[in-house]
Amino acid sequence: EQSRHIAETLAEFRLTTEQLLEVRKDATVKMLPTFVRSTPDGSEHGDFLALDLGGTNFRVLLVKIRSGKRRTVEMHNKIYAIPLEVMQGTGEELFDHIVQCISDFLDYMGMKNARLPLGFTFSFPCRQTSLDAGILVTWTKGFKATDCEGEDVVGLLREAIKRREFDLDVVAIVNDTVGTMMTCAYEESTCEIGLIAGTGSNACYMEEMKNIEMIDDDEGRMCVNMEWGAFGDNGCLDDIRTEYDRAVDDFSLNPGKQRYEKMCSGMYLGEIVRNILIDMTKRGFLFRGQISETLKTRGIFETKFLSQIESDRLALLQVRSILQHLGLDSTCDDSIIVKEVCGAVSRRAAQLCGAGMAAVVDKIRENRGLDRLNVTVGVDGTLYKLHPHFSRIMHQTVNELAPQCNVNFLLSEDGSGKGAALITAVGCRLRQELN
Ligand code: BG6
Ligand code: GLC
Repeated sequence: EQSRHIAETLAEFRLTTEQLLEVRKDATVKMLPTFVRSTPDGSEHGDFLALDLGGTNFRVLLVKIRSGKRRTVEMHNKIYAIPLEVMQGTGEELFDHIVQCISDFLDYMGMKNARLPLGFTFSFPCRQTSLDAGILVTWTKGFKATDCEGEDVVGLLREAIKRREFDLDVVAIVNDTVGTMMTCAYEESTCEIGLIAGTGSNACYMEEMKNIEMIDDDEGRMCVNMEWGAFGDNGCLDDIRTEYDRAVDDFSLNPGKQRYEKMCSGMYLGEIVRNILIDMTKRGFLFRGQISETLKTRGIFETKFLSQIESDRLALLQVRSILQHLGLDSTCDDSIIVKEVCGAVSRRAAQLCGAGMAAVVDKIRENRGLDRLNVTVGVDGTLYKLHPHFSRIMHQTVNELAPQCNVNFLLSEDGSGKGAALITAVGCRLRQELN
């Protein structure tokens, strides 16, 4: 009886091929121009600073790119914390903090007075009007600093640089998907798509200029940021959203927004799991019916814990000890159920992400009028990298839903900072050519 109830609850997370095809079909999303018109060609050259804001870690990087016969990229980076009160304080505090970190980094590298061109990986939706101007549409994930939405983020950064009275040349603003695509395309020229399955979920790809409404020029291609996390905000995913998805959404920083992201990215999967566990406990199926303080705590199930719990190499005893570590006193039966819940939630996430990617590759194939498309996707993100099953299920789903495409996934080894530096290199060259 109890196991039937549990199975019924988890059945809501099982998507049929028809449902996934529906998701693929509806996956029309934004096409935000990025002003990146080509992937790297190897001629990029110079020393650059890069910032990487919006994922698990905030980094400042120095990237030295050498072109010619022996292309090399040398990188130095330092991770800085962004305290919660800064992420959710005022915009001025946030950008002052960022500039403080750059200043510390330059000290640390012993290059206090260098005036290097800077590429800013800023992993949020921006309406760009050029390579170095982007208006923040809305904060997503865990950020909510005031006075930034509707503002040009490069302008905010430049003002903060001025307040500290030092000098930096901000050349490009780059979404992490675009940085990731460029990082991978530097090694593999067939890479024309960037995918992030991490704290958030998003993709970008090289689109034909004639399909990009916001730009008049019709020649060639430009990378577009899809902001696919916002897919479903018009209600088109409502049929497959569960009560647990709605609970996670209601208590998030941005209710009603980023609905697809909230079903398939690292920041939210653990919260979905926690909501299911609370419900099952209330119904007496788990933890002896006792809802502990821990279980009431938002955010306890980080991606790394989900990944550990679902690892096949772990014996149930070890799952129990992870739960114990989180402050959840479980029986052996409890730990079996928790593992099943995690599996159902992460499987659905991988399938949804795969359905989105199937839509992208098929769009590119149709754009080019091909029967078959060979393409590489550059990927990054903690969920993709750490989770024991996510990547495999996602790949499988893409193959099933886009049978006319051969899709190769390439894991980004160097993060999006490298890609941002490559974009900055091109930006600098174009600027010189214009002058
Ligand atoms: C990193 C990028 O490699 O991947 C970040 O450099 C990006 O900018 C990140 O946001 C995505 O992963 P996560 O899991 O840290 O959000
Ligand atoms: C969120 C952001 C998007 C970013 C993604 C992955 O969806 O809105 O810009 O690419 O997270 O970090």
